[in-house]
Amino acid sequence: MNDTHIITIERHIIEEERRHPEARGAFSNVLSDLALAAKVISRQVNMAGLVDILGRAGHRNVQGEDVQKLDVFAQDVIWRAMDHTGHLCCMASEEVEEFMPIPDKFPAGDYVLLFDPLDGSSNIDVNVSIGTIFSIHRKVSKSERGAEEDCLQPGHRQMAAGYVLYGSSTMMVYTTGEGVHGFTLDPSIGEFILSHENIRIPDPPSRYYSVNEAYFSRWTPEMQAHVARLKDPDREEGGFSSRYIGSLVADAHRTLMRGGLFMYPGDRLNPRGKLRLQYEANPLAFIVEQAGGRASDGRTRILDREPDHLHERIPLFLGSDSMVRDVEAALGKMGGFGPGAGVYGR
Ligand code: AHG
Ligand code: MN
Ligand code: MN
Repeated sequence: MNDTHIITIERHIIEEERRHPEARGAFSNVLSDLALAAKVISRQVNMAGLVDILGRAGHRNVQGEDVQKLDVFAQDVIWRAMDHTGHLCCMASEEVEEFMPIPDKFPAGDYVLLFDPLDGSSNIDVNVSIGTIFSIHRKVSKSERGAEEDCLQPGHRQMAAGYVLYGSSTMMVYTTGEGVHGFTLDPSIGEFILSHENIRIPDPPSRYYSVNEAYFSRWTPEMQAHVARLKDPDREEGGFSSRYIGSLVADAHRTLMRGGLFMYPGDRLNPRGKLRLQYEANPLAFIVEQAGGRASDGRTRILDREPDHLHERIPLFLGSDSMVRDVEAALGKMGGFGPGAGVYGR
C-alpha cells in the first residue's frame, strides 16, 4: 500500500485556510468555486473537437482580438460559478471592457476576482495546451459591489493567484502566499488531487529560454544581443534550447517546473508588449516568486507595478531568479528606459 495520501484541492484549501487565522471561509470558497469552474471548462475543452465549440464566436473583444467560442464559454462558466456565491463584490475579465459588479439580486462579499478565462486562444483549434489564469484580491473600496479601484490593486496585494492548464492532463496550480501547489484532475472521480506539493523553480535552470523570435527585428539591440548570447553554444552562459508554445500558461508552467526564462518584451511596434498586467503578469508573478523565482518588466518587479487601467499591457520576464537577473542586467545597460526596461525605447 503506497503511503501517498489522497488530498483533494478542496481539502488542501481548507488546510491552508487554517494557516491564515484572519481568513474566513469565504476566501476558501472562492478557490473551491474556481476549481468547480475549472472542471466544467476542462470537460468542454476536452470535447472541443467533438462538439460545436471550436472556431470564432463572430465578434472581437476589448483587446481587438477575434473571440473564440471557447473564450465565451469559459468567461460564462466562471461568471455563473461565481456571481451568486456571496463571496465576491465584483470581477474583472480580460475579455470584458469594464469591471463587473455582482448583480443586486445576489449577496455581495469582500473579495475581487480578476481572470483571463481562456489563455492561448490561438491554440484552441489545434489541440495545443491552453489555460485559465486567476487573481484574488480583498476589496479596498467602500462600495458594496466593488469599484474599479478594487480591480486596480498592485500584485503584491494579491490574496491568492493561480492557473488551470488544460493540457495532456488538466492541472490547477495555486498559491495563497504559502508556497505553490499543483493538483491534477482525475476525470474518473472529478477531483483535483494534490500531485505537486510546494513546487520550487529549479535554479540552476533547465537549458530553456522561451520567446517569440518572429519579433527579433523589432527588439532593442540589447534584447537581440541577450537572446543571441543564450543561443551561442560557445559561450559559457549560452547553449540554451528554445521552447515557445504560444500559450502563456503552458510556457509559464514549463518554466516553473523545469526552470528557465520566459520573455515577452516590448518592441518597436508594441512598446509595452502584449501581456496584461492584471490578468496574466501579476498572477503568474505571484506564483513564480512563491516558487523562488523572479518576475519583472525588465527592470521593475511585476508585483510592485501600480496598474493605471484595467487592460494595461506590460513586458514580462519570468523564471529562474539567476536568468531573470541576467536579462535585467543586459537590458538595464541601455539606461534611460522608463518604468520597465522591457518597454521599447524608453
Ligand atoms: P490570450 O489567448 O488570453 O489572449 O493570451 C494569448 C497570449 C499568451 O497566451 C501568449 O503568451 C501570447 O499571447 C502569445 O503571443 P504571440 O502569438 O504574439 O507570441
Ligand atoms: Mn492570456
Ligand atoms: Mn484570454
